[in-house]
Amino acid sequence: MYKLIITLLCVVTLTACRDEPSAQSEQLPEAEVDARADDQSGFSQILDSPLSESSSVKKWPNARFSSSGVIPEYLQREGDVELGRKALLEEAYVSCGIPERVFRQLLPADNAPLGVDGRHERAEGLPYNFNVVTNDDGLSIVTSNCLTCHATKLFGELVVGLGNEFLDFTADASKPVERAGALVQGDAEIAAWELYADRINTIAPYIKTSTVGVNPANNLTFALIAHRRANDNTWSNQPLLPLPPTDVPPVSVPPWWRMAKKPAMFNLGEGRRDHARIMMAASMLCTDSFAELEEIDQYAPDIRAFIASLEPPEYPFPVDTVLANTGREVFDRTCSQCHGSYGDEHAYPARLVPLDVVQTDSTLVDFALGDGVPYIDWFNQSYYGQLSTAAPGAGYVAPPLDGVWATAPFLHNGSVPTIGMLLESTTRPRYWKHAVSDLSDPESYDQQHLGWQHDVLDSGKASAADVAIYDTDLPGYANSGHRFGDHLGDDERAAVIEYLKTL
Ligand code: HEC
Ligand code: HEC
Repeated sequence: MYKLIITLLCVVTLTACRDEPSAQSEQLPEAEVDARADDQSGFSQILDSPLSESSSVKKWPNARFSSSGVIPEYLQREGDVELGRKALLEEAYVSCGIPERVFRQLLPADNAPLGVDGRHERAEGLPYNFNVVTNDDGLSIVTSNCLTCHATKLFGELVVGLGNEFLDFTADASKPVERAGALVQGDAEIAAWELYADRINTIAPYIKTSTVGVNPANNLTFALIAHRRANDNTWSNQPLLPLPPTDVPPVSVPPWWRMAKKPAMFNLGEGRRDHARIMMAASMLCTDSFAELEEIDQYAPDIRAFIASLEPPEYPFPVDTVLANTGREVFDRTCSQCHGSYGDEHAYPARLVPLDVVQTDSTLVDFALGDGVPYIDWFNQSYYGQLSTAAPGAGYVAPPLDGVWATAPFLHNGSVPTIGMLLESTTRPRYWKHAVSDLSDPESYDQQHLGWQHDVLDSGKASAADVAIYDTDLPGYANSGHRFGDHLGDDERAAVIEYLKTL
């Protein structure tokens, strides 16, 4: 066992153990992208890679693996950044929703919702996270867009791409839809509402989290997959695959600007090959035919290009540059082999770090390689799998740390409130809750440890009603692992933290 860990550590930390190329080996000329999709060779190349993790093979006998180590680059379809932003805020990639007339009636009369600049007049007065589109019956409907989870109001300004870590998915998602149902009138409105209500009711039990702030997106996708046929994307009222657990594993929403560097999407590096096609999975709620998917696929590369063009917000508080320079040295010595280096000569190694090495909560990995295998197979056989591949690794990707100051709480499950605590594992709270509910006040930020103000608690959830408490005793919520900062002295740790402010 000891030897195995050493070998794995070699693979992920010491490039000298094995001379690996820096993430460039899978570059393809553009013309080959399509051909490759047809023969599925990308699929087999990724999934059939040798399984070095023999302990993992035993633990997950049915898993579809991708190996750990450096994730290869893949040439993405080109897109137009400006058109992408427009598509994101105007198009019907989620094609069902609430009739616009009813939606506007339900908006609070007294305070104007936070909008977003530069979109068509039809969206005037709508919150930034809703698009207004016309459905097949010619009815204007309001649909929720990607920014529901992928934007946050930070110190008074909307930051597109910053994951919203304060959303509340603890309530029953079908309740607000019911309220809208009381107001619909006429055949077209009733039909639109019925379709939407039907889909939301079907998935509601699988997207209800036990804690405010964590995200159910993975489970949401699995629940929808269970109701869709892979061969033609049509919907089945009866589930065709086992449904995901109703104990929703918590996930923290990663910031979009990381996609400028990441060759694979998601925490387990499972989003391989064409990212635009993978992002289209967010259409799974109501998009019921290939024809509809083909329409979305026309502009999906633009959305991808927009996402990859985003830059992190700058750290808005003072930085001690002398201390930060010392921090850079410590970082380059202890962190950069996994997280890359920054500045003019930046490099990102895109490492998938085996679970045995990172030792953070294993729930996502256990599921993806165990009970989640039917969803992986579905994806790879579906429209999405024509250009992309779902290939989860037996570990977690070490993300780029650009703008990491803004992305608290930390780790894939958002279990650690500050970077200070992440880098000194004995200080991580077993039970805690946010002390702020929105991020308008600069005082809500902890400049010493990098994270949002929070309260450390003596006990965990006494009942399911304690939705504000982050209880690390719950399955999926553990704050273990990533002890790579533990051996640092206090001065070194403070210096690394100062340096992280500058990324
Ligand atoms: C319900 C919330 C939600 C919505 C809506 C949503 N996402 Fe996400 N998104 C997530 C979560 C959570 C993750 C992280 C999943 C993981 O890695 O396990 C994620 C991951 C991603 C990533 C990968 C980021 C990375 O660093 O690997 C991209 C890109 C992305 N989403 C794009 C989109 C786009 C485009 C849309 C709309 C078409 C969208 N998302 C809609 C919650 C959401
Ligand atoms: C052996 C590889 C490795 C080393 C060394 C390493 N990390 Fe990490 N780091 C990871 C992985 C993998 C994750 C994601 C783990 C997860 O989410 O479960 C991560 C996550 C993080 C995160 C959280 C990102 C977020 O948004 O949630 C921060 C911050 C971070 N590391 C900083 C550091 C610093 C600073 C050092 C050096 C003291 C360091 N890491 C050393 C692999 C490493």
